[in-house]
Formats: sequence, structure tokens, C-alpha cells
Amino acid sequence: MSLDAARKLIAAATRICVLTGAGISAESGIPTFRDALTGLWSKFRPEDLATPEAFERNPAIVWEWYANRRERVAMAKPNAGHRALVELERRAGRFTLVTQNVDGLHARAGSRNLVELHGNIARTRCFGCNRGLDESTMRPGTPPTCAHCGGYARPDVVWFGEMLSEEALQRGFEAARSCDLFLSIGTSTVVEPAASLPFLALEAGARVIEVNPDRTPLSDQAAIWLQGAAGAVLPDLVR
Ligand code: OAD
Repeated sequence: MSLDAARKLIAAATRICVLTGAGISAESGIPTFRDALTGLWSKFRPEDLATPEAFERNPAIVWEWYANRRERVAMAKPNAGHRALVELERRAGRFTLVTQNVDGLHARAGSRNLVELHGNIARTRCFGCNRGLDESTMRPGTPPTCAHCGGYARPDVVWFGEMLSEEALQRGFEAARSCDLFLSIGTSTVVEPAASLPFLALEAGARVIEVNPDRTPLSDQAAIWLQGAAGAVLPDLVR
């Protein structure tokens, strides 16, 4: 029943906004953050690794932890859920995909109108002068250092307590406010400002479809909650 109803909402939609979280990459072998036992925050304390203060306290430990995650991400492949969203974008009128994920799998799957709200773990920038860095502009070290100012290299991802890119935020808010259908996929809907996007869409009169094996703070207000894994549900939804 709800899959058919969701398919009808998609067929009738003219402007679709999609928000994804770590759940869509779980089936690519990338751990989520808050799933019990397997989530990263059930093994590590975010305040020890994912804050500017943690990096200043232990630059080598934080750099190594992200380098390890970067290697794991580089070996991962987009899954059927990522590919279903590429197909949906190809068929939809106006389509914006806003992701909290830093794994780059949506881009690798072929999504085009993509907003990476929390950055991208494959990119590096300087903690001192904020320049984008690559092999040619870094001196070796753990962490490497910026050839321009000598500052430490850091992953180009948003840490807790840091501002998101203004441009990404504006694009995400604009897409949420102007869509007539909002899909929220694989996110626990607890980290702001991303968690506000589905509620902005509801305020603007959009219908919301949520895809998640578990309930979230959004589930009660979603028009349809498709309880299941993104890699299983999305191909059926988009077919
Ligand atoms: P979470 O780990 O908080 O939530 C993952 C969600 O995905 C949960 O609701 C799971 O039930 C669901 N899930 C698990 N497996 C799934 C599957 N196969 N298909 C669909 N859903 C599945 O991850 P996020 O909500 O993405 O912040 O976390 C948001 C932010 O908190 C992240 O971007 C990161 C983290 O700290 C920063 O990097 C700043």
C-alpha cells in the first residue's frame, strides 16, 4: 500500500528535494554514526575526534582517524540506493539532492544537482589559512602541513561547532522550501541544520516520504514512512 502511494506522490511531483544521511551508505559498508553497536559514535566519542578542539589537542590522532575513514570510503562503492536516486533525478523535473554524507558516493553514482552539506572526506584544506590543499601544496607529516602558511592539513568536513558553507546551506534551504515532495532517507534527523530541512518542506506545504528501518523525529509527520533499507526500498520506489 504505502509503496504504491509513495510512487504516486513521486509521479505527481514537479520539484523534488532529497535529504540523505549515513543510512544510505550503510549497504556500501560504511558505518553510520548512531546505530547501536555498529555506529561510529558508539565506539568513539565525537568530541574526541570531530571538533576543532579535538584536532588542536591531538592533530595526529584526528588526522589518522580520518585518513583511515578516507581509505575505507575510497574502497566503498555506490549501492542500489544511490543509483535509484540518480535514476529519479534523470526523470524528475526539478531535483536537488542534499546529503550530510562526506563519502562522495552520490557523486560517484552520478548524481548531478548535489549539495554536500558536511563537506567531503576526500578533500583536504588548511586548518590555518583554510586553503584547499593537495599533494603538491602540502609538506609530508602527520598531519601534513600547508606549504603556504605551515598550518596543519585537515579533512574538508564540517566538525561539530563549525559553520557549514553558506552556499551549501542556502542551496539546501532553498530546495527544501521550494519543493513539493521531500524524501528523507537514512538519517536519524537529529543533527542541525540538516534536520530542519524536512520540517521546512512541511511548512511550505510539501509532502514528505521517509525511508528508514527505524522511526525518527520526522516519522510522525511524514505522509509515508517506508520502513526498510534504502538499498532495498529505493529501487522499488523509483521503478
Ligand atoms: P546517523 O547514524 O545518526 O543515522 C543513520 C540513520 O540511518 C538511522 O536513522 C538508521 O536507522 C538509518 N539506517 C541504518 N541503516 C540504513 C539503511 N540500510 N537504509 C536506510 N537507513 C538506514 O547518521 P546521520 O543521520 O547521517 O555529522 O548523522 C548526521 C550527522 O551526524 C552526520 O552527517 C555526522 C554525524 O555526526 C557531521 O559529520 C558533522
